[in-house]
Amino acid sequence: MTSPLWEVYLEDNRPRFIEALFEFLRIPSISALPEHAEDVQRAGQWVADRLQGAGAENVQIMPTGGHPVVYGEWLHAPGKPTVLIYGHFDTQPVDPLELWKHPPFDPVLKGGRIYARGASDDKGNLFSAIVAVEALLKTEESLPVNVKFFFEGQEEIGSPQLAKLLAENRDHFSCDMVISADGLQWAPDQPSLELGLKGLCALQIDVKGPSGDLHSGMCGGVIQNPIHALARIIDSMRSSEGHILVEGFYDDVVELTEEDRHFMAQVPYNESEYMATMGVNALFGEPGYTTRERNWARPTLEVNGIWGGFQGEGDKTVIPAEAHAKITCRLVSDQQPATVAAAVATHVKKVTPPGVQVVIQQSDHGAYPYLMPMEHPGNVAAFSVLKKLYGKDPYYTRSGGSIPVCHYFLKELGAYTVGLAFSLDDEHLHAPNEFLRLESLNRGQKGFVMLLKELARKGC
Ligand code: BES
Ligand code: MN
Ligand code: MN
Repeated sequence: MTSPLWEVYLEDNRPRFIEALFEFLRIPSISALPEHAEDVQRAGQWVADRLQGAGAENVQIMPTGGHPVVYGEWLHAPGKPTVLIYGHFDTQPVDPLELWKHPPFDPVLKGGRIYARGASDDKGNLFSAIVAVEALLKTEESLPVNVKFFFEGQEEIGSPQLAKLLAENRDHFSCDMVISADGLQWAPDQPSLELGLKGLCALQIDVKGPSGDLHSGMCGGVIQNPIHALARIIDSMRSSEGHILVEGFYDDVVELTEEDRHFMAQVPYNESEYMATMGVNALFGEPGYTTRERNWARPTLEVNGIWGGFQGEGDKTVIPAEAHAKITCRLVSDQQPATVAAAVATHVKKVTPPGVQVVIQQSDHGAYPYLMPMEHPGNVAAFSVLKKLYGKDPYYTRSGGSIPVCHYFLKELGAYTVGLAFSLDDEHLHAPNEFLRLESLNRGQKGFVMLLKELARKGC
């Protein structure tokens, strides 16, 4: 059997694609750091040029008030569905830099893996999607469905400007469904379909005690210590087993159905292996739920950092004037970031002991959780594509991670997002030595072509 022309195109151009991806990976598009704003813009320009070269029309770099969105389209398949392809070209910061074996923005190919910040999350996947469309347009001069591209430069900071951009440009972005080129597969030889993502809200608690640091002997026993006060506040938020004690925290949580639990239990899980990988000697979590259910479908509250007082060598006899903590909650449907953050703030105020004052700073970039129906036609189509690609039925999974814009695609465009990304969870996303398997890159390119064709056959 001879391969279709698009597949020959993908194979013939492999070395050229790798070179292009390396060029993309060399742009340090770290969205969180203001000094890299120009680089995020440059990455956007790179994506726009690549889209143009692939044959996309009406390519635009859309201003958002923050990092840009790159748009492109090909809309010459009348009567066929319109699919919006999503991905992000910004990356996480690189620290700690000293742990990288190669400089993060100087990509290398070693042992079938491309090492660079952003290789797996998400430049490789985004690139695969563009290349898939390029292969079709160069060999068949048309696409099986109408395609719009929506590539953003602010995902890793919570996409603060995208709710507004989508609300103001509904017609421009209107589509039947979204395909996300950001996310994971289960394993190199096992596909999965991600049905849910978590939301997020973030707070900082500042506890202020006496007007300045005090002598811990002269003032000991009579002045409330802000660090002790903060420790009590934090401890009051969760039971020792991890049930969250903030009033109203679980109010909007959609309980798991028997069917949900059944599908989650289908995905193999080896507890001792999991503990060994994580380097812990016991697991922890809310009673009444399996580890997988806690991780995928229950909301969490975690202290991300805590500081205050004396940290130097030796002893210092002091009652510090202040103490601080950063907290994030991961949310599940139908929790709302502002409501949960307010509940946590109310709790903190209620349990703050006399003698100290708290100030709560609420971060403005929350994310809504996202959940999609298993039987959505996009999932049905992706299921059959993944099955062909891997020779196995995909697992239905959810993720503890967040892609903030998915909620807004649904709210503003009425479109569900189907995941079709090929990163794997051992690829050091957000960590030193991030890499992407070359094999995943190739599989991704094929997968995108196959999904567009499948959607044209079956509709969505
Ligand atoms: N690609 C990840 C999210 C993800 C991870 C989805 C694994 C599916 C499986 C995304 O780039 C990410 O890291 N998101 C942030 C969002 C936050 C900054 C608002 C996250 O989850 O921490
Ligand atoms: Mn990502
Ligand atoms: Mn990420």
